Amino acid sequence: MRKHVIAGNWKMNKNLAQAVALADGMKEGLNALPDIDIIICPPLTALAAVRNAMQGTTIAVGAQNMHWETEGAYTGEVSPQMLTSMCSHVIVGHSERRGHFGETDEMVNRKLVAAVLHGLTPIVCIGETDAENRAGQTLEVLDRQTTRALAGLSAQQAATAILAYEPVWAIGTGRTPAPEEANATIGLVRKVVRREHGASAAEAIRILYGGSINPNVWPEFSVQPEVDGGLVGGASLSAADFVALAAQTRAAFLAKSGQ
Ligand code: 13P
Repeated sequence: MRKHVIAGNWKMNKNLAQAVALADGMKEGLNALPDIDIIICPPLTALAAVRNAMQGTTIAVGAQNMHWETEGAYTGEVSPQMLTSMCSHVIVGHSERRGHFGETDEMVNRKLVAAVLHGLTPIVCIGETDAENRAGQTLEVLDRQTTRALAGLSAQQAATAILAYEPVWAIGTGRTPAPEEANATIGLVRKVVRREHGASAAEAIRILYGGSINPNVWPEFSVQPEVDGGLVGGASLSAADFVALAAQTRAAFLAKSGQ
């Protein structure tokens, strides 16, 4: 059974004091939930402080983005080498970065390869836009994004990455696919991983669902057999909601693994 994951993407929210207060507010509740991987991704300005706040707990901290180069003249950017001293995970290729900042599949791939080489666990986002969905291009888009993101990785490296299927039209909109539909789509993404990197990588890789997750809808998603956890935006800014989502993820994981 693939260990389940719940990850909170705080996006561009919370100043330093607010971020520490939010981390403090969820720390105890999250730390009482073993068996799953819990990751919070605050803004970069609060990464070190949140990491410190989480010390002595099982909660991992991640960045929301990074550059692929190790160092150099890239004003305003942050390198994987800088992140390794601060966190264990990094979100790569979020649709907001692809959409607002022109990140291409090739850039996503460079970031992913750099993250893996530096020992960071990447959470790689894939997902179709509303227009692509309506045009029936979902699988084509996900196939391309997945194949290109993971290009050049060994089967073993691919297996340790985390994928997050986030339909762009479901992010922050309150709209979601039906849980069974998300399950089927993630199953097809897993087939792409199998074709590109083999059966054992496909069986091992964790694939999350993301997009308008909240504690009311999450139980139905988290029990789906292909859904290995969730990537949460808005609801991760509420300590109570995020702890509830983590507890639901753990319950689903325990049920699936027969515990
Ligand atoms: P929401 O949960 O706010 O829809 O955002 C999802 C997301 O983009 C997480 O990365």
